[in-house]
Parts: sequence; structure tokens; C-alpha cells
Amino acid sequence: MNIITVTPNPAIDLTARVADWQRGSVNRGQSVVTTIGGKALNVAINLAQSGFPVEATGWLGSDNDELFKQRFAKENVKDTFIRVAGETRQNLKVVDTTTQETTDFNMPSFDVDDKAIGKLSDYLATSVQSSSILVFGGSLPKTIGVNYYADNVKAYRDKCQSVVVDTSGKALSAVLQAEILPSMIKPNIHELRQATGKALITDKEIIAEARQWIAKGVELLVISMGSEGAWFVTADKAVKAQPLSVKVASTVGAGDAMVAGTIRGMIEQLDLADIAKMGTAYSAANIENVATGLPSQSRLQQFISQVVVA
Ligand SMILES: Nc1ncnc2c1ncn2[C@@H]1O[C@H](COP(=O)(O)OP(=O)(O)OP(=O)(O)O)[C@@H](O)[C@H]1O
Ligand SMILES: [Mg+2]
Repeated sequence: MNIITVTPNPAIDLTARVADWQRGSVNRGQSVVTTIGGKALNVAINLAQSGFPVEATGWLGSDNDELFKQRFAKENVKDTFIRVAGETRQNLKVVDTTTQETTDFNMPSFDVDDKAIGKLSDYLATSVQSSSILVFGGSLPKTIGVNYYADNVKAYRDKCQSVVVDTSGKALSAVLQAEILPSMIKPNIHELRQATGKALITDKEIIAEARQWIAKGVELLVISMGSEGAWFVTADKAVKAQPLSVKVASTVGAGDAMVAGTIRGMIEQLDLADIAKMGTAYSAANIENVATGLPSQSRLQQFISQVVVA
């Protein structure tokens, strides 16, 4: 078994903490923290921290890949990112420590040329095996067509154990409209509402919606609802996992951690209720941590035993 995560559009996230900041004036900040970001690479780190062999690929700007290299080495993630010319974008988050409001400044991606596209395709074609779990996540660089994930699902769904996709907007809509659907998806409720154009208010509506996608080929649909928990739905079961009440350090990457925990549950062939507990425990562990990442396995075990599913 090998896990291959694909992050087409990673970022370096700078999070500045500034009390009562005002636009158009000089503000004095308290701190700035630099972290690497990207949905599938968060999943890679969370799974590597749990002891699974993980390869992280996608595209990275060659001029500022040092932070990525350091983190991957530290977490034991095999770095198979294809380098492209230039820099990986740096996004800025400003947290107003007076109001707790966060303002995001997201920058445009690098350009990915045909050669780099070909290199990633070749890498996947030679690395994906019948026992692989393939995880695609995040947004797409501006030069990559909206069907990129949908096309890869089609190419690999029959060739490996599971294809997981976690994305939003047009890329998610394209995945859902395609003929071949992923093995697992974890939209949050807002992403699913946007992609389907449906209100999806009641539990009954949410489960009925999930079952439609399962009828079309999805094996496990996880619909996360922030502080309301998450639904885990398969062809014959549906369970709702209550979130754990933890001290919130940062909810960034809570969904990605849920994807990682769910994948672990799938690998360990747990039943659906235990998969839901694992996914929720990973989210809680991530929320308690300032950086995207997990605390000790014993803390995780404690969380798993506390999750209530119904
Ligand atoms: N404020 C919170 N308190 C407790 N648990 C939370 C909170 N927010 C999220 N969670 C947990 O994390 C899970 C995933 O969260 P959410 O639905 O926000 O994911 P997401 O929107 O995909 O996040 P992202 O993509 O930013 O990582 C939830 O199902 C819940 O278990
Ligand atoms: Mg998410």
C-alpha cells in the first residue's frame, strides 16, 4: 500500500496577528507565523504523522521550496513534487486579535507549463499501483483546466484502491458532473450546497443527497458541517459524528485532518461508525494545534474514544 497525495496549488501562508488594525495606516503587529499550506499536503502530513508511508506530489515553485523541503523531511513525507519556474504563492492572513476577525489575502498561483503537466502525469502513471490510495486536494493553478481532477479520477479510479478528492467551486462541480466519480469525497456543507444548488437543510435532505452520489459511484461521502459535526454516508449506512469540544487554536485544516482520519479508517477497514470517530478525532486534534498537524497518538486515542456517533 502506498498513499500518494497530489497538491496542484500549494501556498506559503503567513499569518500575522495585529490588534485592532486599520486599513490605510501603519499597524504594529504582534507576531507572524509562516506555514506551508495545501489541502492534499495537509492530508499527507497528517497520515505520515500516523506512521503511514506517504508520497506528496503536485507542483512547487523552485525558487522558494525550502520550507516545504524542511517540513517534508521532518514529517517523513517523501517529496515528489515537480518543480516549476518561479515561486510558490504566499498568502497573507491577518488576524485582528481584538475582534478575532481574520482577513485573507490570497495570491495568484504560478504558471504550470505543458512540460510540468506532463512530468506530473508521468510520475502518477509510473507510481500508482493497484494498492495505492490517491488523494487530490485543493484549488488548481490558473493555467490548469477545471476538469483536471475529474480527468484524473477517470484515469485512476479502476487502477488503484481509492481515489479521494477534496476541492471546491468549479473543480468540485466538474468532478461531480463527470461520468466516473471518486471513491471518497468530503465536501463541507457549503461546498456541497454550492455545487448542487440545493438548500440541504434537514438531515433527511443531506442523506438523500449523499445517496444520490453513492448511486452514481461514490463509495463514501463525508459531509462536514464545521461545529455541527459531520455526516458519513455509504450505500447502506449513515452516521452523524458530533464534534468534540476542544479549545480552538485554529480551525484551518480541520477538514483536511478529517480526510486524513477517514482514509486511515478506510485503510484499517473499520466499520463506518469507527471511521467517523477516527475522522472526527483527527479534526479535533488538528483544531487543538496551532499549526496544521496532530498531537501525540495517545491524545488521538483519547479523542477517538470520546466521539459520539448516532
Ligand atoms: N469550531 C469547531 N469546534 C469543534 N469541531 C470543529 C469546529 N470546526 C470544525 N470542527 C470539526 O472539524 C470537522 C471538519 O470541519 P469543517 O466542516 O469546517 O471542514 P472544512 O470546511 O472542510 O475545513 P477546511 O477545508 O478549512 O480544512 C467538523 O466535522 C468537526 O468535527
Ligand atoms: Mg475543506
